[in-house]
Amino acid sequence: MKNIVVVGAGGQIGTELVPHLQKRYGEDHVVAADINPEMCEKLRSMAITEVLDALDIQAYKEILKKYQIDSIFNLVALLSATGEKNPQLAWQINMGALLNSLELAKEYRCALFTPSSIGAFGHNTPHRQTPQDTVMRPTTIYGVCKVTGELLSDYYYTRFGVDTRSVRFPGIISNGALPGGGTTDYAVEIFYEAIKKKRFTSPLPADTYLDMLYMPDALEACTQLMEADPSTLIHRNSFNVTAMSFCPADLCSDIKKRIPEFEVEYRVNPVMQEIAASWPDSMDDSCARQEWGWNPVWDRPSMVDDMLLAIEKKLV
Ligand code: SER
Repeated sequence: MKNIVVVGAGGQIGTELVPHLQKRYGEDHVVAADINPEMCEKLRSMAITEVLDALDIQAYKEILKKYQIDSIFNLVALLSATGEKNPQLAWQINMGALLNSLELAKEYRCALFTPSSIGAFGHNTPHRQTPQDTVMRPTTIYGVCKVTGELLSDYYYTRFGVDTRSVRFPGIISNGALPGGGTTDYAVEIFYEAIKKKRFTSPLPADTYLDMLYMPDALEACTQLMEADPSTLIHRNSFNVTAMSFCPADLCSDIKKRIPEFEVEYRVNPVMQEIAASWPDSMDDSCARQEWGWNPVWDRPSMVDDMLLAIEKKLV
């Protein structure tokens, strides 16, 4: 990877992936592109920035040419809960950005990373230690886009030799930009509420287990996979990756140990409850470990300590 563009750079992952890539490849080698001009204004102080609607293939192409891009991180997506409010728009955005990325990666011989998700699984997938290769019949439009995206990305690799790689991200916990419209967002919001109000209303039931990753590990997953020797990769799109699996009750009791006044109540959001129930409780990520050395370092206790510290600092 020499010249990189992050498309959808203004979101939860992008705002942290850009500095992570800059540290590794140099500030002049990373372009942050986002559809939101205000977000681009904010990003401008830290990176080369371009306003880009990834559905506009001409504009996208100009950026690849202008910066002689050889690697694309396509992070454009409406998440699971937002997608259910407007499925047609979710399909247009999620698939439109991916198709343009694939076509341009083919034309300009770029490597392409597009995250997939635990959302690619469905009710009839084995929920415990979900295998790498298994039944994938998601019931959300977000998941339908993710499975289609995995298949299309593999197709572009086998048919056209495009270097596509990706991971199935679980919920990502971070203290930079907030996630928006995801089913796993509660695991970020809870920390802000715990510090600000000492109470939290959970939209998911107490015993809903989901996989999670702390952002530093998620960033490592992106770069490690893209740097991996291709001859070691049996899979490409996409690898299960996880670092922890917990439910709201687990997280609440961790926080309560550190903030004894903290209280939680449950007001379940039926759309989110249904989505979460269709996703794995825990994934088996041994293929990622074997094929490219995936080895996350953050577990639940260390993540909780770090999140509370970081958000306390942020809110002063
Ligand atoms: N965090 C995403 C969501 O909840 C899952 O990939 O939609």
